[in-house]
Amino acid sequence: MAAKASNLLESETGKDSTYDRIAEVKAFDETKLGVKGLLESGVTKMPRMFYSTKVEDHTQTSPCDSKLRVPIIDLQDIDTNSSLRVEALDKIRSACKEWGFFQVVNHGIGVEVLDEMICGIRRFHEQDGEVRKRFYCRDLNKKVRYFSNGTLFKDPAANWRDTISFFLTPDPPMPEEIPAVCRDIVIEYSEKVRALGFTIFELFSEALGLHSSYLNELESADGQFLLCHYYPPCPEPELTMGASKHTDNSFLTILLQDQMGGLQVLHENKWIDVHPVHGSLVVNIGDFLQLLTNDKFVSVYHRVLSRHTGPRISVASFFVNSTPQGSSKVVGPIKELLSEDNPPLYRDTTVKDVKAHYFEKGLDGNSSLHSFRL
Ligand code: OGA
Ligand code: NI
Repeated sequence: MAAKASNLLESETGKDSTYDRIAEVKAFDETKLGVKGLLESGVTKMPRMFYSTKVEDHTQTSPCDSKLRVPIIDLQDIDTNSSLRVEALDKIRSACKEWGFFQVVNHGIGVEVLDEMICGIRRFHEQDGEVRKRFYCRDLNKKVRYFSNGTLFKDPAANWRDTISFFLTPDPPMPEEIPAVCRDIVIEYSEKVRALGFTIFELFSEALGLHSSYLNELESADGQFLLCHYYPPCPEPELTMGASKHTDNSFLTILLQDQMGGLQVLHENKWIDVHPVHGSLVVNIGDFLQLLTNDKFVSVYHRVLSRHTGPRISVASFFVNSTPQGSSKVVGPIKELLSEDNPPLYRDTTVKDVKAHYFEKGLDGNSSLHSFRL
């Protein structure tokens, strides 16, 4: 332990001339086998490129905050029972304003579909390294790719996590481009989540007092993008993160997590666990929706702790703009939501500028919205 602490101190003060981070990161990337590959090769100590204690506060939720729970919203019968719909809309409005996060139950996607999606993603990450490797790629234009740490070369600390991603709409990959071990379920699950996203955008529109099709008609939110994560067990979880603190660069994110836990959201300046609820989905607001709603809905920081136990599997479905570099379409606070009492908090900008800002900074832990505030 003492040796570890002095190591960190040396690199913090810049005295450690023997450590070549770039070389370590490069060698890791060239294995094309991710963090899972490190474990398969028998590592029992976490390599230094994953150390994040210098750049991130690892403080856990304090026990006295355990009463605070991310809101759970029940969508049962909201299409047929208007009082249930009004009740759900009220809950959604306050969850999006106070938390930026909620969990949905009775959302219409069968629990067997959710479970099979988790199994399918697990099968991909746990298949033979030689097969996995063929999908490893850093080309953002590729519709299906396997990688570890999307911004590996920019980030101050790598996360203990691997990912397979799928760009699905408006121009889906050919089925044969999707790995056979998860092909059918990725197609089925993504279609069902897309339909749920449509329903949630309708509910959001109504909760904001807009016409129910308002958000669905936005051309800028035309893309669906899946990040399917695998968090292997971590030998030294106190030294690294599963996912560093960030906000999502999406309009909306629908997250499927398994029963392992580890996801936390920052609420009133405290990290609160998002407890797994079997059969539920986690919904969160992305940066674009915070900007469009002029802070009526908020995009909040969240992170995933690494653990000794694992693996943990999750699937984040992002509703985004599909243009790779971002379209030049103007985005700004929705005019219908503005008034003398509610003046715009952001300047009009373009999808492209917001995206560029996000990619430039890498995972530095700051929301990309600050630069667009008036
Ligand atoms: C993400 C994310 C959380 C999780 O992919 O943006 O926040 O539980 N994922 O994997
Ligand atoms: Ni996220």
